[in-house]
Amino acid sequence: MSRVGIVALGRYLPARKLTNKDLEKLVETSDEWIISRTGIKERRISAPGETTSALAVAAARDALRNSPVKADDIEAIFVATVTPDSAFPSVACLVQKEIGARKAFAYDISAACSGFLFALTTARQFILTGAIKNALVIAADRFTSIIDWNDRNTCVLFGDGAGAAVLTQVASGGILSDYLISDGAGAPLMGVVPGGSRTPEDKHTDTAQLPYVTMNGQELFKHAVPGMAEAVGIALSKAGLTVDDIACVVPHQANDRIIASVAKRAGIAKDRFFINIDKYGNISAASVVVALCEAVEAGRIKKGDKVALTVFGAGLVTAATIVDWSY
Ligand code: ACO
Repeated sequence: MSRVGIVALGRYLPARKLTNKDLEKLVETSDEWIISRTGIKERRISAPGETTSALAVAAARDALRNSPVKADDIEAIFVATVTPDSAFPSVACLVQKEIGARKAFAYDISAACSGFLFALTTARQFILTGAIKNALVIAADRFTSIIDWNDRNTCVLFGDGAGAAVLTQVASGGILSDYLISDGAGAPLMGVVPGGSRTPEDKHTDTAQLPYVTMNGQELFKHAVPGMAEAVGIALSKAGLTVDDIACVVPHQANDRIIASVAKRAGIAKDRFFINIDKYGNISAASVVVALCEAVEAGRIKKGDKVALTVFGAGLVTAATIVDWSY
């Protein structure tokens, strides 16, 4: 069977930083509370007019800059996002035009914070079937566009950003296994209200209330820990590996305490986890790919290393991917 590898990575984070001290001026919170409960020190906020597609294009260009596969050779673009510029056209179509990937089909994938691995798996399957050879997988969220800045339960957690990966056939290494699972029974734990097709007919002309995120953080915490730990175990067994083979785990960056609990439950030392939540907070789908990109740049992941990616998000959606790092 042919193999599929990640052959280039890129990322884009908006320049503007919002620190915990800044948030102390908006809601009743403290730098100490946010750091001790989440590990977050600051997050990035998009500039006015800097939409999700702008973040996605910047990350895509960063990935393509060092890629052996050029925009003209990309045959599919998948964008994981829950904050598209608008319901349609898709962010993926906007990216396709901007980067000049004339031969590509393009569409968005909605899987909240797990979106990057859902999109990665989709792209891998297209390549494994032989339908295409090269794909661009992007995760981008301007999550702060759906935040209620009066709600301290949510506004301290999230930031904006994007990451991108170029996938192609490789002779050795590459993605060894993946595992995706959804649990719609957990849908009420996190969502966006109001808005969408649930909007009552008599409210269709009422634009006073912007959509914002609601979240039951404690319940999500309880699902996230076993979900991400078990996903790693299942993906490892599909790859014929054990935790001892893993050089680095790159998890979704929702909460440093969740990552510590996942490490304990999975039986992997926390110092083998790559963590950058202090700089960016939770950037939804983009978290794991931005972290992967920084882990490679920092030398935490080297050619030949076995890497585990694991994610969790609203839906509920959980996933893990094992990669034999090939560059
Ligand atoms: N500053 C100060 N106090 C706060 C803040 C804040 N920003 N937020 C909440 N509190 C208060 C609460 O009101 C509560 O006060 P009370 O005891 O007087 O009622 C107290 O702090 C404790 O609140 P908890 O909710 O118990 O805090 P917890 O330790 O659970 O941490 C957190 C909250 C950080 C949200 C945590 O539960 C978490 O990370 N959950 C998981 C989130 C997640 O993974 N989401 C899914 C992924 S995102 C996606 O899919 C897009």
